[in-house]
Amino acid sequence: MQRHRRTLKDLNVAGKRVLLRVDFNLPLEEQGLSAANSNDHRLKSVLPTIQYLESMGSKIILCSHLGRPEGKAVKELSIKPIANRLARLLNSSVRALDDCIGPVVEETISNMLPKEIILLENLRFYPGEMENDPEFSKALASLADVYILDAFGVAHRTHASVVGVGNYLPSAAGILMETEIEMLGKALDNPERPLLALLGGAKVSDKLLVLKNLLSKVDTLLIGGGMAANFIKACGLPVGYSKVEHEHQDFAKTVLQRTREEGIHIHLPEDVVITKDLNGKLEDSKIVNIDAIPFDHYVADIGPKTIIRYVQHMVTPRTVIWSGPMGVFEIEKFAYGTNRIAQALAESDGVTIIGGGSTAHAIENMGFGDRFSHVSTGGGAMLDFLGGKELPGIIGLPEKI
Ligand code: 3PG
Repeated sequence: MQRHRRTLKDLNVAGKRVLLRVDFNLPLEEQGLSAANSNDHRLKSVLPTIQYLESMGSKIILCSHLGRPEGKAVKELSIKPIANRLARLLNSSVRALDDCIGPVVEETISNMLPKEIILLENLRFYPGEMENDPEFSKALASLADVYILDAFGVAHRTHASVVGVGNYLPSAAGILMETEIEMLGKALDNPERPLLALLGGAKVSDKLLVLKNLLSKVDTLLIGGGMAANFIKACGLPVGYSKVEHEHQDFAKTVLQRTREEGIHIHLPEDVVITKDLNGKLEDSKIVNIDAIPFDHYVADIGPKTIIRYVQHMVTPRTVIWSGPMGVFEIEKFAYGTNRIAQALAESDGVTIIGGGSTAHAIENMGFGDRFSHVSTGGGAMLDFLGGKELPGIIGLPEKI
């Protein structure tokens, strides 16, 4: 049972040195963006925990990974630029250090004052982080009196700063972790019904577990994005150049069959936007019914009839879980479906849960971020959680007494 973990407020943190594991792995891949100016949803989401620690006079030692430097110091993946952005959001100063362990770091921390905030350098500059090396965990633990895990986005990784440090310090979940576990846990185990899931994104393989787990829970399932092509193909229709994961065709057929047998309402797009050029440079996009996709086109977005139907389905449910964009939303002319779905959900008065990586980035970039009940900070972590997996970071925390 992943819920009911010890939380920050169950521990005495007043005046203590608190090692706070956050996920500041910001989406660097967005074109032209760097850690200094990309989407800041993950930064904003940990402000309540940091502010609580400030109010308790704790000495706050933040640590995170950024990217995948594979155990080496990579200049471009320094976490330092994030310190200024965080300082602006907090209206407090945040001092970035050159390392995450070692004598200089220890010395700096020994001189910290209550409420001071330090950001350690990228944890993944050390191989011990990904290897969950006990020596690396001990070195991190030696910096603090208490360990708080508030990095839901990385809770699916068995890394030293996620599962190792807690072996050596009193530990608990931060406010963000608590919210993620509560909101996602309730949507899965005890949702207000009807429950609708809208699944999109490029690949069916990313959503296999989620689909399997949600099938026995949802009242209605809507499919969009690139993965819809897999289901269209499973219905015996051609999908042109769109990527079909042949190894998962049987799975798609089983899903369709189970929904029929178990009375789950499943909806596939009835029309789609197609193009010969997914980069959006050619002026060639067209709208066709799903039984008329030409052999030399890709599916790039859901079409207008599908949008109207999907938006109508979103009126009744009391809980909606949405993961995965409806099309190639990075290209403006293929972002319409994702945009309209986001707008419709933003107007819903039910519980709306969004996440799984690119969906959260998409809606944050559209400026809708604060209009949903919960925008998860998890990419893979949210998908694993919704897929019914136990996340090592969560089950590694002590249970609430
Ligand atoms: C994420 O962005 O999903 C998390 O920070 C985990 O990153 P990782 O996939 O590199 O472990």
